[in-house]
Amino acid sequence: MFPFGVDYYPDQTPEKYWETDARLMQEAGINVVRMAEFAWALLEPEDGKFEFAWLDRALAILQAHGISAVLGTPGSSPPAWLIHAHPDLLRVRDDGVRIPYGNRHHFDPSHPLYWEYTRRIVTQMAEHYAQHPAVIGWQINNEFGDRSYSPENRRAFHKWLQKRYGSLEALNAAWGTMFWSHIYRQWEEIPLPLTIAGSPNPGLALDYYRFMSDAYVDYQQMQVDILRKICPTHWITHNFMGFGYPLINYFDLARNLDLVSWDNYPCDQWRNNPNPDFTAIALGHDTMRGLKQKNFWLMEQQAGAGGWEMISMAPRPGALRLWAYQGIAHGADGMVFFRWDTCRYGTEQYWHGLLDHHRQPSRRYYEIKQMGAEIACCGENIRGSKVKASIAMILSNDARFAFQIQGNNPQFNYNAHFVDIYRAFHRRQIMVDVVEPGADLSQYQIVVAPALHVVTEAIAENLKTYVSQGGTLVLTPRSGVKDASNAVVEMHLPGLLAELCGVEVEEYDSLPPEVKNQIEFVWPDKELSAAESPEVGIFCEILSPTTAQILALYKQDYYQGRPAITVNPFGLGKTVYVGTLGKETLYQPLVNWLLEIAEIQGVLSVAEGIEVTERWQDEQRILFILNHTTQNKILPLPGHWRNCLEDSAPLVGLASIPPRGVLVLAESKDENQA
Ligand code: GLA
Repeated sequence: MFPFGVDYYPDQTPEKYWETDARLMQEAGINVVRMAEFAWALLEPEDGKFEFAWLDRALAILQAHGISAVLGTPGSSPPAWLIHAHPDLLRVRDDGVRIPYGNRHHFDPSHPLYWEYTRRIVTQMAEHYAQHPAVIGWQINNEFGDRSYSPENRRAFHKWLQKRYGSLEALNAAWGTMFWSHIYRQWEEIPLPLTIAGSPNPGLALDYYRFMSDAYVDYQQMQVDILRKICPTHWITHNFMGFGYPLINYFDLARNLDLVSWDNYPCDQWRNNPNPDFTAIALGHDTMRGLKQKNFWLMEQQAGAGGWEMISMAPRPGALRLWAYQGIAHGADGMVFFRWDTCRYGTEQYWHGLLDHHRQPSRRYYEIKQMGAEIACCGENIRGSKVKASIAMILSNDARFAFQIQGNNPQFNYNAHFVDIYRAFHRRQIMVDVVEPGADLSQYQIVVAPALHVVTEAIAENLKTYVSQGGTLVLTPRSGVKDASNAVVEMHLPGLLAELCGVEVEEYDSLPPEVKNQIEFVWPDKELSAAESPEVGIFCEILSPTTAQILALYKQDYYQGRPAITVNPFGLGKTVYVGTLGKETLYQPLVNWLLEIAEIQGVLSVAEGIEVTERWQDEQRILFILNHTTQNKILPLPGHWRNCLEDSAPLVGLASIPPRGVLVLAESKDENQA
C-alpha cells in the first residue's frame, strides 16, 4: 500500500472528535498518520511520570480504521517543567543571548542533561510501542538545525577539536592562529564564533559549523540506537527541510536513518508567492532523494494556507494535489499532509490543515480525497519505482558553510547559484541527482559542482577518477580556494583542481552590482554560437589555460579577450571550467551544449510551465506530466500510454492537461494494451 497520510495531533484535539476524524481520514484514503512529536508535556506530565493512555486510545481508534502510525520522538519541544527546573537546557543564540522558553527548537543538543531526559522519554515510548500493531516507524524530533553557542557546546566543541586535530600545535597551524595573535595554549582558551565578537577566524568558524552539525547527528544517533534496540521491526526517519536548509550536513544526518522524509511548503505566509518556484521545489525533492540515493517520503506536505501572525494566500483549486504529485514524480514513496485539522490555539492557529477550524470537510479535504482514491488505485505500481538520472550536481556543505562565514561578494549566494544551474537542466526535463562530494560518480555522464570552494585531496582524487574514466565535470568560480581548515590554498586557483581543469586563475575580480561584463563563445558549436554574448558578473576570473582549450572570452574591461570559460580533455573525459557567474543566458546554452555532446535527451520537450519526469518500475516507464500553469495545455506524446489516474481511452498522439492538472501515464509497449 502506498503510504498516504496526514500529520495528526490528538494531543491538540478534544477526544470527542477522534472517532469522526478517523472515519473522515479513512474515507479520504488515508492509511498513515504521524503524531506525538510535540507531545512531551502530555507523555511525561511530571518529571519521571509517564502517561501513554491517551495516545493508546487515539491509536486504537486509528487502527480500527485501517490507519497506521509513525510516532515522533518529542525532543524538539521540551515541557515547561523541565526548562523551569533546568533553564540552562535552552539554546544560546549567536549573539550570546540564551533563548527564553515559549517557542520550540530551543533546546541545546549537546547538553548532557538534555541527553538524559531525551534518552528516558524515548526509551519509555519505545518500550511502550515496540509491539503495537499500528506503529510502523519513528521520526526523530522535528526539523533539527539551529546552532547553539552555550557553555556546554563550547566544552563539547573543545573535545571535538581534540579528536580532529590531536594537538594544539596542529590546530594552531591549520587555523593560522598567529594571525592577530590568537595562538591557543590550552583547549579551554578556544572561543566560539559569536557574532558580537566580529568576523571570526574562518578555520574556527567552519569547524564550529561542522561541530554543530555533528552535535545534532550525535543527538539523533543516541535516539536511533535506543529505537533500533527496542523496536527492531520499525523504521526510523527525520523530517528534513529540503535543499535550501543551510545549517546541517544533511548527508551526515541521513546516513544512519532508514529513510529520508521532508517538509514541503510551496506557499507559506513568509513568501506568500502566488507562483511558487516549482523548479526550486523540484531541486528540494532531488536533494532529499540524493541524501541516501533512495526514494523518500513527504512527511509534511502543504495542506492549506500557511500562517503564524500572517496568513498566506489560499492554495488554488488543484494546487495541493499538483504539489503533492510533484513529490511523487521526483521519487516520493510516501505522502503525508501537514496537517489534518487547523488548531484553534497556539502559534500555528492559522496554519491550515485539510479541515478548517470548524472541522467540516470542505474544498481542500475533497481535493485530497480525490488524490487518495487515485493513489489507492495506482500507488502500488508507483511505489518503489526508480528515478534514473544521468546528471549529478554536487552539494558541498563545507562550501555552503564556508560561504556563510565569508560570502566573498554580497551578491553571491551559494544556494541561488546552485538553483540557477539546476534550472537549466530542469527546463530541459532532465532528471538530476544531488550527491555529496565524495559520492561514487561513475554512473553519471555529466557532473556539475557549483562553487566547490573547500576541496580536500580525497575530493580532488574523486573528481579526477571520475573525469579520467570518461566523465564530464563542470566547475564554476571560487572552486578549490580553501583547504579542509578553511585556509586559502598556496597555489594557483582552482588549487587542487587546477590540473584537472588545465587552467590557472591568473586573477579574480569581485564586482559590485553596477559593474557587469559579457562573454562571447568562441567554440565551434551551434548551441553556443547561438547564445548572444551572455551578461556575466559578481565574479570574473581571468583564466590562463595550461592544457585547456578556450570556450569563451570576456568582452569588456582590462581582461577583454582573455579566457572566461575553458574545456580540458583529461583522461577519457573532460572538465569545463566556468570562470564567471551568469544567469539563464549563460547556463542554458552551456547546458544545451553539454547535453548535445553527451547525447542526453530530455524526457519530453514541452512548453514553459510544464514539468515532466519519469520513474521506472523495472522495465515499466511511468511518466509524470505536471501543469504548473493556469491554462489548459496540449502536448505531443510519443508512443502509447495508459492513464494511471483515471479510466480513459489509451493515450496516443496528443494529450490534454488541465490547469494545475496532473497526468500519470504508464508506457505501453504493446499498442493493443495501451
Ligand atoms: C514545519 C514543522 C511543523 C509546522 C510546519 C508549519 O515544517 O515541522 O511542525 O510548524 O512547519 O509551520
